[in-house]
Amino acid sequence: MARVIAIANQKGGVGKTTTAVNLAASLAVAEQRTLLIDGDPQGNATSGIGLTSEQIQRTVYDALIGECSLSEALARSVQFTHLDVAPATPDLAGAEIELIEHPRRELAMRDAIAPLADRYDFVLIDCPPSLGLITVNMLAAADAILIPLQCEYYALEGLSQLLNTVHMIQRGVNEALAIDGVLLTMYDARLNLSRQVASDAREYFGPKVFETMVPRNVRLAEAPSFGKPIILYDVASVGAQAYMSVARELLEREKGRAGRSSASPDLAAADTAVPAPVHTDTAASELGIHEPGAPMNATSSGDSTSSALVHSEHPNAE
Ligand SMILES: Nc1ncnc2c1ncn2[C@@H]1O[C@H](COP(=O)(O)OP(=O)(O)OP(=O)(O)O)[C@@H](O)[C@H]1O
Ligand SMILES: [Mg+2]
Repeated sequence: MARVIAIANQKGGVGKTTTAVNLAASLAVAEQRTLLIDGDPQGNATSGIGLTSEQIQRTVYDALIGECSLSEALARSVQFTHLDVAPATPDLAGAEIELIEHPRRELAMRDAIAPLADRYDFVLIDCPPSLGLITVNMLAAADAILIPLQCEYYALEGLSQLLNTVHMIQRGVNEALAIDGVLLTMYDARLNLSRQVASDAREYFGPKVFETMVPRNVRLAEAPSFGKPIILYDVASVGAQAYMSVARELLEREKGRAGRSSASPDLAAADTAVPAPVHTDTAASELGIHEPGAPMNATSSGDSTSSALVHSEHPNAE
């Protein structure tokens, strides 16, 4: 049975797609049968893994609205023998509206993935930067959420909205949804702010935070324009090494989880517990995570697609 992991954070530009593409590639290289689902109408995972529009016929949109099966939408063995990709194009945005009429509107993705679950070890879903019906579908289909957290200004703002959505889905349609991990991205050890975000995240999420931190690495930013995961674009780069290390950690965690669930179901259940619920608009302060003087506890702008999160030149950044 595949482990279905939704890579989600409603904040824009935090490294969701970079993580989805490069973790999928690293798992495929490790001979894990991997399916990468592009759940974002921006289609960045689709182009980033190297699929061109000429190669795309059916898409995640068609599978979601029942025009075809997910299997029919797959591009097989993309770049690697063990990597299949379910591509997305901008028409996926329409699903946000069309699914409202769907009799199982939150469960369309789960229904689409179910027949394929035995074919893969991992299904990674790249989610869009919103908490709309598409993301709800992806989380309802997932065993776990992996949250990329950018080590930058405002990184923690809005986190409580995401956790509230996770709780809502656990209460409603997917009780088993676990937080499989928090991945610190674009880490820059020279910046106090990066170190502070990392330490705050570790304090709050404890061992759920991956030990590997993905550094800010220009090679990671360049690779998508060549339609290549970093492992093919520059395997020696620190970015490639980081994502291979994330894949190793994930595989070790999976081994541990499988061992625990066969030994003691109770322990396995405890492991899936998420942090206590926090209220929507005061994420950082209620989480007790903020840098004195830094506006990490500012209320949410409500603009879930904002990518104005990178303020490396901000006076508070060093
Ligand atoms: N570790 C990194 N080092 C340098 N650049 C990075 C790194 N991770 C991501 N980037 C770059 O940052 C930008 C945002 O990354 P990415 O597209 O993965 O974020 P996202 O969360 O998927 O964004 P969106 O919310 O728009 O879907 C991209 O230009 C990407 O190439
Ligand atoms: Mg993206």
